[in-house]
Amino acid sequence: GTVRKMSFGFNGKINGVEGKTPFLIGVSGGTASGKSTVCKRIMEKLGQVDKDHTERQVVCISQDSFYRDLTPVEKIKAEKGQYNFDHPDAFDNDLILQTLKDILLGNKCEIPAYDYRTNSLIKDQITTIYPADVVLFEGILVFYFPKIRDLFHMKLFVDTDSDTRLARRVPRDINERGRDLDYVLNQYMNYVKPAFEEFCLPTKKFADVIIPRGADNTVAIDLIVHHIWDILHTKKGDSISGQYPYIEHKRTS
Ligand code: ADP
Ligand code: C5P
Ligand code: MG
Repeated sequence: GTVRKMSFGFNGKINGVEGKTPFLIGVSGGTASGKSTVCKRIMEKLGQVDKDHTERQVVCISQDSFYRDLTPVEKIKAEKGQYNFDHPDAFDNDLILQTLKDILLGNKCEIPAYDYRTNSLIKDQITTIYPADVVLFEGILVFYFPKIRDLFHMKLFVDTDSDTRLARRVPRDINERGRDLDYVLNQYMNYVKPAFEEFCLPTKKFADVIIPRGADNTVAIDLIVHHIWDILHTKKGDSISGQYPYIEHKRTS
């Protein structure tokens, strides 16, 4: 669309600072659809994971870093599983918008860190995002608000069956997010599922590419990686060098 033509590929000085406008990719999908895993795979395939943060051409940011800090009353509700973390208002959407605009201006920016165990932002822990060529922004509701949605040059939706997502969310939340089975299932039935249907699923229609089965879909991931690779090479400044990584193609006949 027009946003892409206007902003992408711009290399120049903004406010006296050398700015490069990255290609901004939004990645959405229901909880435990594999958004974070798909982004990790993309980063791995582009050889970004072992690089120092200051040298990455591709960076990934999670919407979860932008959860609002809870009031004491909300905090007690969250501990009892009675807070809706799946509602669009649970996020600091002004900060998301400001951060993405900053990123598009090629500015270095700082993002908060989030702790699911305490349902709160981690004090004094801030991640610096250095200007990159490609930025992935992933989360359940990154396509909800038009103002945010319109900033993406490319929109991906990770589409995994609800039962598979629940089957993955339960062990993940128990093992990695400090929850017990009762908590996870009650939260899922009372908040996660209804909010998915009301707020997340309707944004699927805004996606440019739908990835069925998430991280299992290596063909889709390879296509996207190839596209990003092309962007990195077509861009002025040619920052990733070398051959496109060899992809093994399975033959069925
Ligand atoms: P999201 O970020 O969309 O919530 P995650 O990437 O965190 O989803 O995936 C949810 C859980 O399922 C994680 O524990 C992850 O390790 C696991 N997982 C993701 N994709 C797969 C897959 N293709 N096969 C098996 N487990 C997976
Ligand atoms: O990685 P994923 O997309 O699953 O992260 C979003 C999910 O995290 C939401 O479905 C929300 O219910 C959950 N969440 C939570 N506790 C928090 C913050 C988010 O269970 N404190
Ligand atoms: Mg995730």
